Amino acid sequence: MAHATESAGQVNVGRESAGGITSSYTVDEGVRLRVPYSFFGSIYDGEEEAAVLSAMKQDSLTMGPQVLAFQKSFAEYTGTKYAFAVSNCTTAMHVCSQVIGLRPGDEVIVTPNTFIATTLVILKEGATPVYADIDRRTFNIDPREVEKKVTNRTKAIYVVHYGGQMVDMDPIMEIAARFKLVVMEDCAHAPGAEYKGRKAGSIGDFGCFSFHSLKNMTTLGEGGMISCNIDRYAEGIEKLRCMNLDQWKDQKDYWIPSHFDVVDFDGKWGNNYRMNEAQAAVGSVQLKKLDWLNSLRVNNGRYVTEGIKGIRGITPVYEDPDCKHVYHLYTVCIEEQELGASRDDFLRVLYREEGIQGILHYQPTYHFTGLKKLGYRQDLCPNAEEFFYRRDLNTPQHPRLTRDQLDAIIQGVRSAAAKVRR
Ligand SMILES: Cc1ncc(COP(=O)(O)O)c(C=O)c1O
Repeated sequence: MAHATESAGQVNVGRESAGGITSSYTVDEGVRLRVPYSFFGSIYDGEEEAAVLSAMKQDSLTMGPQVLAFQKSFAEYTGTKYAFAVSNCTTAMHVCSQVIGLRPGDEVIVTPNTFIATTLVILKEGATPVYADIDRRTFNIDPREVEKKVTNRTKAIYVVHYGGQMVDMDPIMEIAARFKLVVMEDCAHAPGAEYKGRKAGSIGDFGCFSFHSLKNMTTLGEGGMISCNIDRYAEGIEKLRCMNLDQWKDQKDYWIPSHFDVVDFDGKWGNNYRMNEAQAAVGSVQLKKLDWLNSLRVNNGRYVTEGIKGIRGITPVYEDPDCKHVYHLYTVCIEEQELGASRDDFLRVLYREEGIQGILHYQPTYHFTGLKKLGYRQDLCPNAEEFFYRRDLNTPQHPRLTRDQLDAIIQGVRSAAAKVRR
């Protein structure tokens, strides 16, 4: 159990885990929670347990038959030529950033409404993130804003399918084709999501997936996948995910000149971003369950929408008719004018008096201290700023929520709205 102290209005969480905010939002303030914000986004049973135990008995515990099988079924599921398993989504996106040869002077247009990982991989290669504002209804990057940000230095567009609903990809791909830009889809929230019948990760040049504990499917808490259709990129991904390994051209015996050769990929040097066999074995089982897991999330989301619609000042999730939403998040928007109270007052009452733990995603990336130091203007994306500071609120959402918990969320939102209005 972590401990919280309040000072100057801030909750400081003393943690007993090494993962900080990536492994728990637990605080101990004496609040009786009816529905906490869970850090486990999937459902495991005996099938996953058996898969782990069986993988443990193999000769090879990493990058063996389980990884190959998982990659194959993931590519089939996503509808792409290739899928490459990696250690997580951040390393997936880093490999893609290296494969496209990102370097200092290059610009990448990216959403500010995302986990820091999407920006980190641009910074790691010395390139410049350029933030384009979001759509007020879907919270996804707005293609019209993307177009305004293109310069002769732009190399790529990194989109994020926020909350499980895909970005409006047609105009993004049209802009990319017109200006010869690469498109990377950050699909961390969106395995199985669709846009006009096409799966997340199959439209851009790359799709990058996360199997972190919180996600719609998970591979023992960490894991990732890159989907891709382009042969040259696939070659680069294979090298950069694992040490730039290559075959000798003039191998005589298997030990001469040595067991492997090493080559750069267009001047880029590789990494150890491998996935192990137990993770991949679990991934194959989880992938078979993904549509079911997503349907549980969709049912939860729609049930909450039904229960909270019509409350003045509370906007339920918007489902774009072009998309199959997979409800990684349930993002309620607070419209302060109509509610007659601030989002923070609402969230406080929801938490302290109703026992429903809401959280916020995402602080506009350029507001983090490290990014401020790089000189970003602090008012770059008004919709993203309004979203995070005034409107955004994620209520608990995962496939194990019970009907009672869903009813508690609905009742809590209704009751908190009535209380703050007064
Ligand atoms: C939108 C988004 N992108 C990337 C990541 C990074 O994923 P991982 O933890 O697998 O590196 C996350 C994780 O929370 C995310 O939410």
